[in-house]
Amino acid sequence: KEIYEIAVVHGDGIGPEVCSAAVEVVKAALGNGSPLNFREYPAGAEHFLKTGESFPEPTFDACRSSDAILHGAGGIPGVVHPDGTEAGLDFTLRLRFELDLYANIRPIRLFEGVTCPLAGVKAGEIDYIILRENSEGLYAARGAGVQLRGELSVDTLVQTRVGVERIVRKAFELARASNGAPKDGVKRVTCCDKANVLRSYAFFRAVFDEVAPDYPDIEVEHVLIDAMTMHLVLRPGHFNVIVTENMFGDIISDLGAATIGGMGLAPSAELGERNGFFQAAHGSAPDIAGKGIANPYGTVLSAAAMLDWLGSKYADSRLSDAAANIRAATNKALAEGCLSADLKGNWKSADITRRLCDQLAAMR
Ligand code: IPM
Ligand code: MN
Repeated sequence: KEIYEIAVVHGDGIGPEVCSAAVEVVKAALGNGSPLNFREYPAGAEHFLKTGESFPEPTFDACRSSDAILHGAGGIPGVVHPDGTEAGLDFTLRLRFELDLYANIRPIRLFEGVTCPLAGVKAGEIDYIILRENSEGLYAARGAGVQLRGELSVDTLVQTRVGVERIVRKAFELARASNGAPKDGVKRVTCCDKANVLRSYAFFRAVFDEVAPDYPDIEVEHVLIDAMTMHLVLRPGHFNVIVTENMFGDIISDLGAATIGGMGLAPSAELGERNGFFQAAHGSAPDIAGKGIANPYGTVLSAAAMLDWLGSKYADSRLSDAAANIRAATNKALAEGCLSADLKGNWKSADITRRLCDQLAAMR
């Protein structure tokens, strides 16, 4: 492929800062003659305040037809629709459902140079993937729930056989392609649910159990969501790939991020059959927007995931190599103490970005 069209949406709060940083880093990784064409489109809460539209149709069309979508972050608290939900989240949520981005891949990895809040845990000892089902579950009720006279409201948790089966298969494939859990090197898929109480989760588990025998080389286990929150704190090194329903995946993503130094280091890749959407797992952090101190690593690592995904989809080693270099530069920068304020450092976003770009220029 000669040109890859990347739809870029900066969004709100720190979104523009971390998104521009990621674009710069990708450009530095690919150098002159880069096959990526970045084109910016508006969406988000600020755009909604200005125009009354949170996600303009031309932006949607561009996202759908692009080769990949890169996003900063969306949302401003208080900028809401009449039903009380945030306008700035329309971009992310509509893309997930309308482009059927069913697999939300969220690696949780403890980097050298970052202080782990868990006692005695060292770099490399936390390295697992949360695979969040991204197209159904409780989030499927968004905008479709019942509101009655302001007195009652109901949202419904939806699981389909097709939806559960495809995310479970993805989990096994990710485990196969991985190095296994850090503690014992075992390739393991953990099905995380609440099958003991709710039938929707019992169904999720039943479909998981039907699919699992197709992957006899991968160890399987079940962990209930409440116990999972404890295990992720007490023995994170045990996990390899965790597959779970949408809402549970949202919650444990933040928990996992906290164990590796915070939301600023947590990337994500939201993938469908055709489209790929890349953004950090964090929000728009309006409190620190415009100060130049936002942590760009999460978005940079999400952009690396974008290059990896495109590189393997089109068997383009230029992109896969650039992704590997970005990860190497990130490892090095963190290990050398290039830490933003959230990581207890005093590096500005621009200085981290420049450091990454310099290292990447030297690697080309
Ligand atoms: C995430 C975020 C989103 C979610 C928001 C921004 C809609 O928290 O990606 O985890 O709730 O899924
Ligand atoms: Mn979240």
